[in-house]
Amino acid sequence: IGGAAALGGGGFGAYWLAAKRDTVGKIAFDRALPIPALATPGTGAAGAKVFTLGLQPGETRFKDGPATRTWGVNGTYLGPTIRARRGDLVECAVRNGLDRETSLHWHGMRLPAAMDGGPHQTVRPGETWAPKWTVDQPAATLWYHPHVHGATGDHTYRGLTGLFIVDDDATDALNLPSRYGVDDIPLIVQDRAFDGANQFEQPVPLGGSLGVIGDEIVINGAIGPYFDVTTRLVRLRLLNGSNARMYNFGFSDDRRFALVATDGGLLATPWETDRLSLSPGERAEVVVAFTAGERVELRSYPSANGGALGRLDGFDDRFDLCQFRAAGALSDDTELPAVLGAAPDLAGQPVARERTFALASDRINGQAMAMDRIDFGVREGTVEVWEVTNDNGFLHNFHVHDVQFQVLAVDGGPPEPPLRGWKDTVLLVQGKRYRLAMRFSGHTDPNTPYMYHCHLLQHEDDGMMGQFVVLGEGEEVGAVGRKHHHS
Ligand code: C2O
Ligand code: CU
Repeated sequence: IGGAAALGGGGFGAYWLAAKRDTVGKIAFDRALPIPALATPGTGAAGAKVFTLGLQPGETRFKDGPATRTWGVNGTYLGPTIRARRGDLVECAVRNGLDRETSLHWHGMRLPAAMDGGPHQTVRPGETWAPKWTVDQPAATLWYHPHVHGATGDHTYRGLTGLFIVDDDATDALNLPSRYGVDDIPLIVQDRAFDGANQFEQPVPLGGSLGVIGDEIVINGAIGPYFDVTTRLVRLRLLNGSNARMYNFGFSDDRRFALVATDGGLLATPWETDRLSLSPGERAEVVVAFTAGERVELRSYPSANGGALGRLDGFDDRFDLCQFRAAGALSDDTELPAVLGAAPDLAGQPVARERTFALASDRINGQAMAMDRIDFGVREGTVEVWEVTNDNGFLHNFHVHDVQFQVLAVDGGPPEPPLRGWKDTVLLVQGKRYRLAMRFSGHTDPNTPYMYHCHLLQHEDDGMMGQFVVLGEGEEVGAVGRKHHHS
C-alpha cells in the first residue's frame, strides 16, 4: 500500500497516518548516501567563527518523476553540518531568503536566550539575524531547525534541518571513529509523505493531530541510500529529524552495536544493544562493527515502546533505512574504549525547586503556549527537578531549551541505560513519571524566555509549549520584549 492514508479518528480528531507498511526487501538501495557538507566558517570580530546560513527555496529530486518543492540552508534541502569546538566563539549569520518569517533554533545548545532562535527571534524575509555565543558544553551531536510559533512543523518539514556538532579535547583523545563522512557518519532520518505530483503532503493543522506521518523514509535527503563502508568500526550520528514518527533502530541481522552518546554527549561507558529507539528531536551516537565484504541494512523495527503510542495503529511498520556495503578489506585503526566520558552528576545535588508538568491535549498543565506569558523563572546556577508525565493516550516527548538534563528516575526506578546520559529530549511513555534534574546556565535575562515543549511538532504548534526565564540574583520575572537593564 503506498501513499499516506487519511484516517479519521473519532476521539482523536483526524490525523495523517501512513498505511501499515513493511518495506523490508522492497528497497533498491541505488543511491549513495549523501553526506551533508561541512560548513566552512569565516573569521569575524574577536576571532569568531562565522557561519553563513542562507535559507532558500528550491527543488529536490527524491524519486522518479517531478522534483519536489523544498526549503534548504545553503542548498535546496537540509543544511550543512556546522562544527565548532568547546570554547569557540561562534556567530551564525542566518539570512532569510524565503517568502515568510521563520527562525533557526540551535537544539541542545547552552546559550543566551536571545541567541536561541526560538519563537521570539524570528527573521523576516530579506533580513539577516546573527546570534553570537561561546560554545560551552561537552562534545555532542546537536542540530538546528526553525522554531516559529505555530509553523515549526511546516517549516521543518520543508527541509530546514542540519546538524551542529560540538567537539572537545577529551572526546578527540578517545580514538573513536571520527573521520567525517568516512567512519563518522551523520544520519538525519525523516519521514515524508508525497502526493501524486511528488510534492510533500503538509501537516494538517487540527487539534489533537499528530501532524504528518510519511510512508517514505528520507536519510540525509535520499530515499533508500547505501553507504560504502571502508573501516571496521563506524560511528553513526543518528538524528530523529521527523515531525512525529518514532524509530526503533536495529540491523537486519540483529547484530549488536554500542551506544556511545546521547543528546548531550558521551555516556560514561558504551552500552551494547541490538535496538535503540529515538523519538522526534532525539540523537544518539552508536558504534557498529562491520566484516569485510558483507551487506547489512539499518532498519526501523516495531517499537517496544508501543504502549507510548497509545491506540494509534500503523506504527508497527518495518522500514529499511540504509544499506551498508563493506569493502573487501577494512582498515582498523579506531577503537571502542571501555570508558568514554563522565556520567551525569546531578543526583544528590541540592535541589532548589521541584516542578510538575502534565502533558495532555495540546496543553502543559492545562495551559496552551502564549507568546507573552512567561510561565516561571528559575535561578541561574541552581538545580531543579522537573517531574513530567504524559497524561493522555497520545505520543508525547519533552524537550527543554538551554539545558541538558539527567533522568533521575522513571516511575521511581532507575532509568534504562539509553536514558543515563545527558538528554535534552525524552520520550514520555503514557502514565509514567519522569524525574529530570537540570542545572540552569548563567545566561540570565528576565525578559527573554526559553521554551519547554513536546517535540512532536504539531503538538508544539498547537500549544503544547511553555516559557521560562533564567534569573540572576535579585531579579524577578520580567515581561517578554522588555529591555533588560542591569543595575
Ligand atoms: Cu528542537 Cu524547542 O526545539
Ligand atoms: Cu506531544
